[in-house]
Amino acid sequence: DRGAYPYYMLKEIDEQPAVLHRIQKAYLENTDKPAISTELLTAMKHADRLYIVGAGTSYHAGLVGKQLFEKLTQIPTEVVVASEFAYADPMLSQRPFFIFLTQSGETADSRQVLVRVNNEWHAPSLTITNVENSTLYREATYQLLLNAGPEIAVASTKAYTAQIAVEAVVAKALGEVKEIEFAQKFDVRRELSLAANGIQSIVDEKDKLKKIAHQDLAKTRNAFYIGRGVDYFVALEAALKLKEISYIQAEGFASGELKHGTIALIEDHTPVIALITQAKTAGHTRSNIQEVKSRGAQVLTIVSEALAKKEDRIVIPTISELLMPLMSVVPAQLLAYYASLERGYDVDQPRNLAKSVTVE
Ligand code: F6R
Repeated sequence: DRGAYPYYMLKEIDEQPAVLHRIQKAYLENTDKPAISTELLTAMKHADRLYIVGAGTSYHAGLVGKQLFEKLTQIPTEVVVASEFAYADPMLSQRPFFIFLTQSGETADSRQVLVRVNNEWHAPSLTITNVENSTLYREATYQLLLNAGPEIAVASTKAYTAQIAVEAVVAKALGEVKEIEFAQKFDVRRELSLAANGIQSIVDEKDKLKKIAHQDLAKTRNAFYIGRGVDYFVALEAALKLKEISYIQAEGFASGELKHGTIALIEDHTPVIALITQAKTAGHTRSNIQEVKSRGAQVLTIVSEALAKKEDRIVIPTISELLMPLMSVVPAQLLAYYASLERGYDVDQPRNLAKSVTVE
């Protein structure tokens, strides 16, 4: 029931702080040592490489997860697009472990990979899903729930943030078992609380994003999201949100790659939305902003408080850089929502799309 909300998508965006609290309750009640089964952690610890498999938004959550797993567990991690990996001839490592990210647990492309994992590669697997007893839940060796609550809108929002949060919890647990110092110091419980508070402050100021969508996105034919590192991965997700519900031709791009060709597409008033949440690359992305500005781009920045300057239009609270995607995606979700409304579309039921994609 969407209650007083005009669309499920807005309700689901607003629910994200509550979802993070639910994940804390499920996995971190009164402790910073996650409640994850010893069997699962032992199987993962044995792996020489993690393979994260997903489609669409779940793939994007996997991209963010790579850094979490590598920093917290020191196990090399590869992230793959399910529909590509399903028919590839990968050179697998000696002891692979597969992690499936899937909100619905029914995505045919992801399931096809799991079939190969089980029948051909005989490797252990974990499905992280929102739906208990779904196909990928049943067919994997291990399973964890997202606890995001039913996601009804076709455009995925709270499942993305839940996937990142659960990846962080699992990575923390595994890093603790492996006695990785970085993991021991990473207070995932506190970070999730900070993220919940941060998201709350962003959704409390949604009118500001509505105004920006009206000014910058109501009429445009195309738009770019840019960033580096995890900011780039969020740019991919942000662009997908804009594409699927506002039908604006949007591209998520690595800031530094723009000048290698794509900058030719920048015209007067082309919206370019830059994500800046990582200290190491903030300066470089700012230079890339200057490059597109001088070609006429209408620039909008989503920046963490710690890195903010006077001219930044969307400033969000700062948490651990590893988990900034939990927060920086939220303004982008709201921009997509309001852009869709501005352009007069059905936010929850975009054309040509289904909530769960059960064909390959
Ligand atoms: C985008 C979206 C899709 C799904 C993708 C995978 O908003 O919802 O890209 O993320 O179809 O679905 P699941 O996670 O159910 O496997």
